[in-house]
Order: sequence, then structure tokens, then C-alpha cells
Amino acid sequence: ADQPELHRGLMNVYMDNTESSFIDGDIGKLLYRGYDIHDLAEKSTFEEIVYLVLYGELPNHAQLEELDGYLRANRRIPDEIITVIDAVQSAHPMDVLQTAMIGLAAFDEESEDNSKEANIRKALRLTAKAPTIVTAHHRVRSGLEPVAPNPDLNHAGNFLFMLFNEIPDDETVSLMDVDFILHAEHGVNASSFAARVSASTNSTLHAAVSGAVGALKGPAHGGAAEEVMKMSIEIGNPENAEEYARKKLDNRERIMGFGHRVYRAEDPRARHLRERSQALGEKRGDPRWFQILTHLSEDVMAPYRDRGIYVNVDFYAGSIYHLLGIPSDLFIPIFALGRVPGWSAQCIEQYENNILLRPRLHYVGPMDREYVPIDER
Ligand code: CMC
Repeated sequence: ADQPELHRGLMNVYMDNTESSFIDGDIGKLLYRGYDIHDLAEKSTFEEIVYLVLYGELPNHAQLEELDGYLRANRRIPDEIITVIDAVQSAHPMDVLQTAMIGLAAFDEESEDNSKEANIRKALRLTAKAPTIVTAHHRVRSGLEPVAPNPDLNHAGNFLFMLFNEIPDDETVSLMDVDFILHAEHGVNASSFAARVSASTNSTLHAAVSGAVGALKGPAHGGAAEEVMKMSIEIGNPENAEEYARKKLDNRERIMGFGHRVYRAEDPRARHLRERSQALGEKRGDPRWFQILTHLSEDVMAPYRDRGIYVNVDFYAGSIYHLLGIPSDLFIPIFALGRVPGWSAQCIEQYENNILLRPRLHYVGPMDREYVPIDER
């Protein structure tokens, strides 16, 4: 057969229309539902973003209050899910999150209802419960009791509270809030694509979103923040950054936290985490991580800008989590917690105007071979 034109990695393939987010990779522009990420990062809250991403509009006071109340009322997870978490506690936190999320289908009366209204409610419940799962797992594996959600705290505040069993200060809550905002939605990235593939078979939102958790886990996607922090710890000291990175690049290894399939300019989300990483490092009297990162981005990797390789959202994130005392294998789950509304919105769009996602592969293996019975091989 003739060689068909391949689109390996589906790079630059437009597979559908969307109203969820706009990305111009050449100039580093990102809009959620038409609103600039810089405005949203500086002026909004994660609760507002959840509303925006799922309903398409910014909420008024009453709408926001209702959504916030719904999240607060739905943070608890069933005891049976805690039992599941306990049973699989030795797994990576992303595997535990995926397991618990699909497990929640068993306790959700609407799990098989694929109407838009039910899917928005399920998206809100999954958004509300995801931090409870991640923090309960971390407590359980540390030999501690899970901390119940606190109805007096917002989404970001609850994540920190349930993780550390301490009421977090406003500044840290706001830092986590911005982080969740920046991760909320990003077009048909690998994990959202995985979610859409499931949705395109008319599978359920729980199945689609837990599948997305699996796709996010890899270092090419959600795992970069953790890898960047590992690298910073290995570098240890700003003076060592250059030699370390050069060795890696000479071996044709990648420097994590750089490069992006869509952005050929700086990822607009990186700016907000850069500012906060610097401020937090100074405040905590530990500016070393920011200095190492700055050295990598401003010096070592500067020549790569000509090739469109700039820092991405994950580059500064790890340093912030590390300074907050968050264990490194929870960095990817944090990305997931922010992304639940985006995955859900992408699925809801897919259900609304569905077409089965089923591309083709060009077969290049041997043809028409003779079957030889096993005893004769
Ligand atoms: N360090 C060094 N070189 C790089 C890097 C990097 N981080 N990223 C890309 N390149 C080079 C790559 O070696 C290749 O060079 P050549 O053409 O000489 O072989 C060229 O740039 C194109 O790379 P690619 O892998 O073909 O491009 P892609 O679109 O498939 O890769 C990527 C996108 C994110 C997988 C890649 O940039 C990467 O592996 N980055 C490091 C991991 C990372 O930070 N991931 C987080 C992405 S942002 C969070 C998210 O939204 O998921």
C-alpha cells in the first residue's frame, strides 16, 4: 500500500473546534474562555476559574457562592475509598489518585448519566474530592490519620490544611490558588486528549478523568516539576548549574521544564510561578533554588530560545512546592488537582458534539505469513 501522510504525535493537527481555551504558541498567549491567563492569575480565584471553565462565563456573586458552597459540601470521600487508598498506599500518588477517582464512580448516583447537567455536577464533585484523595493518601502512607476537609477554608486552603493538618496562612493559600488557576485548562494536551478519547466512546466522566490522570503522570507532561526539583537538588549550588546542564545537553538529554509542544515562546504561565518562586525563596531565606533556576534559564538555556525552547509552566513550580515542604511525588498530583475542571470541560465539549476518536496506523510489518504449528517452530 502507498505510504499515507503520517502525522506522528498528531503534531499541529487540529481535530475539532473548542471554546474552552485559546493558545497562541508563537507569542505565548493563553486565554481561558476568552480571558487572558495573566488577568486570571492576578485577579481571579480557583473557584471562579472552575465556574468559568465549566460554564463558559465568569460567575456573579450568587453563582460563585453557590459553586463554592457545592465544593465545600462535597469534599468528603467515602470511608470505602479511604479503605481502597489504604490498600494501595505503596503505589505512586498518581496511581492512587487514578484508582480512587474511578472508585468514586461506585458512590456517585449519577456516574452513568452523561447529560451535560450531570456531567457538570460530577466535574464539581471530582474537583472537590481530588485534594481529599491526594492528602488522605499522603497521611495514610505516613502512618497518620487522614484530615477531614474544613468547610471554613477554600479549595487551595483545604488542600494545604488536609496535607499538613494546620490552618495555612493567607499568603500560602493564595500561592496554591494561583498554581491551581494556572493548571486549570490547556486545550487538547496529552491528558485532555486521553480524556476526550474515552468521552468519544460515550464512556463516563469518571472513566475519562481517571484515564487522564494516567496520561498526566509521565515526565513529558505532568512529571516535569518533580524532575526539575530533582535536578536542582543534584545541582545543589548555582555555580554548578552550567556544568551540570552542559553535560546533560552534550549527552542529548533534555533539561526538564524547558520546551513545549505548542509554545515556541515563553509559556505565559511560567511568569507567575517565577515571581512567586523568587518571593518565596527570599521570604524563607532559601533563595538557592531560584538562583539555580535563573542560571539555567537565563544563561545555559538562553541559546535554545532561537529554537523556540523556553521555560514552561513546570519550571518554577517544583521550587515553590519544595519550599512549602510538599513531598516531591505530590508535585504531579498538584497539577492534576488543578486540571480536573479542564479535563471535565474538554469531555463535556466532546459529548456535546461527539465523534468517535479513532485515527489509523499505517501497517509496516510483514504480510501474509504462513502459520506454523507450535511443535514445528
Ligand atoms: N531540553 C533540551 N532540548 C529540548 C528540550 C529540552 N527540555 N525540549 C525539546 N528539546 C529539543 C529536542 O531535543 C529536539 O531537538 P532535535 O530536533 O535536535 O532532536 C527539539 O527540541 C524538538 O523537541 P521534540 O521532543 O521533538 O518536541 P516535542 O514537541 O515533542 O516536545 C516536550 C515537547 C514537552 C515533550 C519536550 O520539550 C520535553 O521533553 N521537555 C521536557 C519535559 C517538560 O518540561 N515537560 C513539561 C511540559 S509543560 C507541562 C505540560 O503542559 O504538560
